[in-house]
Amino acid sequence: MQPKYQIQSFEEYQEKYKLAQENPEGFWAEVAEEFQWRKKWDSVCQWEFKTPDVKWFDGAKLNITENCLDRHLATRGNKLAIIWEPNDPRDRAIRLTYRELHEKVCQMANLLKKFGVKKGDRVCLYMPMVPELAIAVLAIARIGAIHSVVFAGFSAHALADRINDAQCNMVITSDGINRGNKQIPAKRVVDEALKTCPSVKTVLVKDCCGWTPHMEEGRDYWLDEEIETMSRVCQAEVMDAEDLLFILYTSGSTGKPKGVVHTCGGYMVYAAYSFSNVFQYQESDVYWCTADIGWITGHSYIVYGPLLNGATTVMFEGVPTFPDPGRFWQVCDKHGVNQFYTAPTAIRALMACGEDHVLSYSLDSIKVLGTVGEPINEEAWRWYHIHVGKEKCPIVDTWWQTETGGIMISGLGNHSPLNPTHAGYPLPGIQPILVDEKGNEITENEVEGLLCIKHPWPSMLRSTYGDHERCRITYFSHFENMYFTGDGAKRDKNGMYRIIGRVDDVINVSGHRMGTAEVENAINSNPHVVESAVVGYPHDIKGQGIYAYVITEEGCPNNENTRAEIVETVVHEIGKIAKPEKIQFVSGLPKTRSGKIMRRILRKVAEGTADNLGDTSTLLDPDVVEEIKNGYIG
Ligand code: PRX
Repeated sequence: MQPKYQIQSFEEYQEKYKLAQENPEGFWAEVAEEFQWRKKWDSVCQWEFKTPDVKWFDGAKLNITENCLDRHLATRGNKLAIIWEPNDPRDRAIRLTYRELHEKVCQMANLLKKFGVKKGDRVCLYMPMVPELAIAVLAIARIGAIHSVVFAGFSAHALADRINDAQCNMVITSDGINRGNKQIPAKRVVDEALKTCPSVKTVLVKDCCGWTPHMEEGRDYWLDEEIETMSRVCQAEVMDAEDLLFILYTSGSTGKPKGVVHTCGGYMVYAAYSFSNVFQYQESDVYWCTADIGWITGHSYIVYGPLLNGATTVMFEGVPTFPDPGRFWQVCDKHGVNQFYTAPTAIRALMACGEDHVLSYSLDSIKVLGTVGEPINEEAWRWYHIHVGKEKCPIVDTWWQTETGGIMISGLGNHSPLNPTHAGYPLPGIQPILVDEKGNEITENEVEGLLCIKHPWPSMLRSTYGDHERCRITYFSHFENMYFTGDGAKRDKNGMYRIIGRVDDVINVSGHRMGTAEVENAINSNPHVVESAVVGYPHDIKGQGIYAYVITEEGCPNNENTRAEIVETVVHEIGKIAKPEKIQFVSGLPKTRSGKIMRRILRKVAEGTADNLGDTSTLLDPDVVEEIKNGYIG
């Protein structure tokens, strides 16, 4: 029962790639035929990258949840849709068949309606990795509302910003979050955030920890109690292909995170197509992606991609190191996981804990391994290949972004040549190009350049919520007629791509994107701080760590206490994921005469390569560089 669009060999990949390049509309129309549409499209793709204005399957009508759920009931009603593995291995796993998941989604959808949520409304999810999160995502989509999942590690302040930007009228959360041996008070964070979010009328609270948090009369309701009486039947709202499906906030080079907008039809087609092909999912396989649904990886490859293909998807509540660093491998053996998809940072963290933890599990079931989120270094790649894949499993190194909605450059299971640290070849329908600083295409191989995409693909972002101009400036204004990814890449002699990393002011900490300006804004809100500059530096486990240069007010004791206070401010403003690893106090920053901070210099110092600083003659105050070099924290 593999979908027709699943590629079966490298030769077929090459054929399909050519076909999609020559006739993108014909190619995608054929893929789209595999789905259930209430009405077919009038046109496959209309686009121009100036505004930008991109439409896929315009005129078509559908509901993505009919494709994730209803469509499978006849043939896969009793097949497991979700296997939920709890944080604590002593607790019971939850298994939901497609029929059960369908019922639960309908119940939740009816509950949302009862509280007045309508088509087009925004609902914010701030939740742990429990089945109700996936159910809520689908329920929101079922009634035509728009989900905005906020990773539950963000602070109240960051959550409030995101709720206000999208003007959400409902938040779904939990009392607390079980994470390893810690419990985190999610509801308390929501309460704090909602002090400044007047648009929110209702909060649904899932009981995860058995706590009794503050419940505001007329606003807060226990999810489990409310849902019990809801009908298990709910007609899906009929959506236009280009109606909004979700908003997902991501960091860019400016201070304010932007709400990346994805729409129903194109996202559905590409999430399903890429899942099936990259992971080479077969009907009885069990697939596990360890990401959090708070990030795009969870949206596309825990929820939508797998369910659209009728797959069994594992959802994991916990962390890789609890109760010990063998937890991932224990779960793989327990559920017979066939495809395992994780992040390089997790691999490096587990690698640092020694091989014993992985060697005590058989991992026999694994067929395909995947990585995502950041470049994988060769050492981690080899460890993953040898100890987890037992040298028999391909590793798909999947390059993509929140904005791309789905995997763009990657191997396809065992149908692609393996090349450690290389993402590889683009998927059919994806047309990457490398350009120089001026936007001239570099056509040869064995080159390096800025990675752009020159033709639209179905799951590309359509806008940034509430500010379309920002979308244009960020992605479509650098080079004419191309989507600019913000990444630099190399293309080797065989045409395989290797992603080098961001070329803009975005750093990638443990696979999480952080805008330097965003972290600087947070640091600057500390009353002792006059000015700051943030850069990334190589970090053994996290890939990149945050290095902050800080100017404090006169008389401030530049000591550990001040450092701790600054870290506290960042945790308050953004969350723990943005904690600066190193804080160097400085009396000034290297600036050009026009006042621009020369980050190149700060980056070199933070990387410990300050011997070669290049030309510093344009600096306003060259002396400050010596001081910064001398104060380097190694
Ligand atoms: O720099 C690239 C890096 O992660 C960025 C996208 O981050 P985000 O939108 O948070 O999505 C992460 C999960 C899709 C990219 O611009 N990145 C992602 N995957 C890879 C990668 N860098 C190298 N290799 C990858 N496989």
